[in-house]
Amino acid sequence: MTTLTAIPFGRVDGQPISLYTLANGSGLEVSITNYGAIVQAIRVPDRRGDMADIALGFDTLADYVARNAPYFGAICGRVANRIAGGRFTLDGREYRLAANDGLNALHGGMKGFDKRVWTADPVTDGLRLRLVSVDGEEGYPGELDLRVRYTLSADNALVIDYEATATRATPVNLTNHTYFNLAGHAAGSIEAHVLTLRAAHHTQFDNTLTPTGAIAPVAGTPLDFRTPHAIGERIGAASGYDNNFVLDAGTGPCARVTDPATGRILEMETTEPGVQLYTGNFLDNVAGKAGAVYRRHGGLCLEAQHFPDSVHHPHFPGTILRPGETYTQRTAYRFAAS
Ligand code: GLA
Repeated sequence: MTTLTAIPFGRVDGQPISLYTLANGSGLEVSITNYGAIVQAIRVPDRRGDMADIALGFDTLADYVARNAPYFGAICGRVANRIAGGRFTLDGREYRLAANDGLNALHGGMKGFDKRVWTADPVTDGLRLRLVSVDGEEGYPGELDLRVRYTLSADNALVIDYEATATRATPVNLTNHTYFNLAGHAAGSIEAHVLTLRAAHHTQFDNTLTPTGAIAPVAGTPLDFRTPHAIGERIGAASGYDNNFVLDAGTGPCARVTDPATGRILEMETTEPGVQLYTGNFLDNVAGKAGAVYRRHGGLCLEAQHFPDSVHHPHFPGTILRPGETYTQRTAYRFAAS
C-alpha cells in the first residue's frame, strides 16, 4: 500500500506549496509538488538494492519558479511540444499564441501548466492534482478542467492518469517531462543507457523541430531502436535525439531503458500514439539537486504524447477536445533492476 506524506515547500503568489512523497513500501518513492505538478524526485534501488534519485531537478521551490527552463518533471500543457508559427485555426477561427521557441509555441506558452499552482488531494495509492485553465489562457479557447493522478503500483510503477474536459473546442496535448538518469540524477551522461522503442516510424521535422507532415520509417536510420541500442551509439555529430516516434500497436511496454552499470530498468506503457525522445540536448551546466551539474545528455525524457503540431496536420491523430468529451491518458513508468 502506498503512503503519502507532505512537507511545506514554500509559497508562490501567496499560495502555499507542498512537497508530497509517495512510497509504495516495495522500493519506489516519488516526490511531487503541486507547483507545476512536478515530479521532483524518483528513488529506486539498483541491482544491489542501493537507492538513488534518478530524476533530474532542483532542491527548492525557488529554483523551480526561477529557472525550470528544461521543464524538469513537469506536466506540460495545454499543448505540449510545438505549434508551428504560434497560431492555429479551429472551427474557422484563428487563435494566436505566444512564440516562446523561436517562431513556435512550446509547451503551453509563457505560463504553461508547468508554472501553475495546482490543488492537491490524496487518493488511494497516490495524489490527485487539479487545475482549471480559464477560457483564453495563453490564447487557447475554452475553460479546461484538468485532473492528473499520480499513483504507485505494488510492482514499482509510477502511473500517471490524466482526465480533462473543456467548455469549448480546444487542442489538448499533455505530457510529463521527467528527465531520467538511471545511474542517478548526478551521474553524468545517459549515452551508455540502452533503449528499445516499439516504433517503426517517426514524424520528420524541419529546422525548427516542427513536423513536415511526413511519417517516415526509422529503418536504416539512427532512430531505429526496435532492437536495443545504446543512446550514444549513433548519436553522431548532432546535438542528440529530440524526435517524435509513432508508436506501433502492441501489448506491454513500448519503451525500455536499461543502465548496464547499475542494472536499473525503466519500462514505459502509454495510451498515447507517440513519444518524444529527448536526450537533454539543451542542458547546459544547470545547477541541480545536491550540488549536481546537469550537462548535455545528463538525462533523457520519454514524453508520451500526441504528435507535435497536430493542429496543422489533419492526418495525425486528433488533439481537439470538444465539450461533452473527456480527454484521457494513462502513462506508466515501471522500474526494476537486474
Ligand atoms: C521537449 C522538446 C525539446 C525541448 C525540451 C525542453 O523535449 O522537444 O526540444 O524544448 O522539451 O527543453
